[in-house]
Amino acid sequence: MKLKWSDVTPRSEYLNRRAFIAAGMASLATPALGLTGAPSAFSTDEKPNSLEDITNYNNFYEFGTGKTDPAEYSGSLKTKPWSVTIDGLVARPGSYALEDLAPDSALEERIYRLRCVEAWSMVIPWLGVPLASILNKAGVQPGAKYVAFRTLEDPDQMPGQRSAIIDWPYREGLRIDEAMHPLTIMATGLYGEVLPNQNGAPIRLVVPWKYGFKSIKSIVSITLTDKQPETSWQMLQPSEYGFYANVNPQVDHPRWSQASERRVGAGLLAGRQETLMFNGYGDQVANLYSGMDLAKYY
Ligand code: MTE
Repeated sequence: MKLKWSDVTPRSEYLNRRAFIAAGMASLATPALGLTGAPSAFSTDEKPNSLEDITNYNNFYEFGTGKTDPAEYSGSLKTKPWSVTIDGLVARPGSYALEDLAPDSALEERIYRLRCVEAWSMVIPWLGVPLASILNKAGVQPGAKYVAFRTLEDPDQMPGQRSAIIDWPYREGLRIDEAMHPLTIMATGLYGEVLPNQNGAPIRLVVPWKYGFKSIKSIVSITLTDKQPETSWQMLQPSEYGFYANVNPQVDHPRWSQASERRVGAGLLAGRQETLMFNGYGDQVANLYSGMDLAKYY
């Protein structure tokens, strides 16, 4: 589905629509997916960015390196049908249809902060399922310590892959406990609608306490492994981008400070805001890293 500007729903209307559906009248409302998803206890009550900001200020190098390139060029990505290969240390390896991994009936709304390593941030109302629910479908074997993800590789659909800025396909990874954490989701929608291509359709990872580059888009494969996987940004520039990439205001990027961030859409007068440890999710995730030197494992 392609969103046009005329489709943009004002936030107030969107909330009304949600209330309407909560009242059990889903069949009378828009046929778009997901509005079944109840807002989650994990959600922030900060004001979400507009759909316009969320879909026109993107990083998706498969469609160019400019912030508006993904909105302009991602129409060539064919998201239906879509399946994800799950293999490695799992009981039931195979190719899983998107509809089976994230059925509409299982979608939850998660309003999360997204903090990019470039020091800007947004608040995005995702729709998705816990990554754990997907991994459990395949059956994680006890020896699995890490999860490796890959984006589609097809330069005909992703013209940015004709330039060698990254060793394609885009790759990311998580430790198994990070992957199974209830905050970690695979999103298939946002603002109650199917995920726009520029945001990583049809299915992308969202790990809200890590820099945005960990949240890999348009995933075609998930591999459970006992070794820490190679990840795109670490392969490209290991002194600047680590495997963990936990948001940390005390560990600066070698070329800029990570102590503060610019909230996209906040306006020029708003000023920068303080960046929070683990992007404000420390209560939920700090225990995953107890005893680890987070300046070393950045
Ligand atoms: N995934 C792929 N495949 N390619 C990318 O270039 N960019 C990452 C991440 N996932 C990227 C990607 C970066 S740097 C960020 S900040 C987020 O996607 C941005 O997500 P958004 O455009 O939905 O806000």
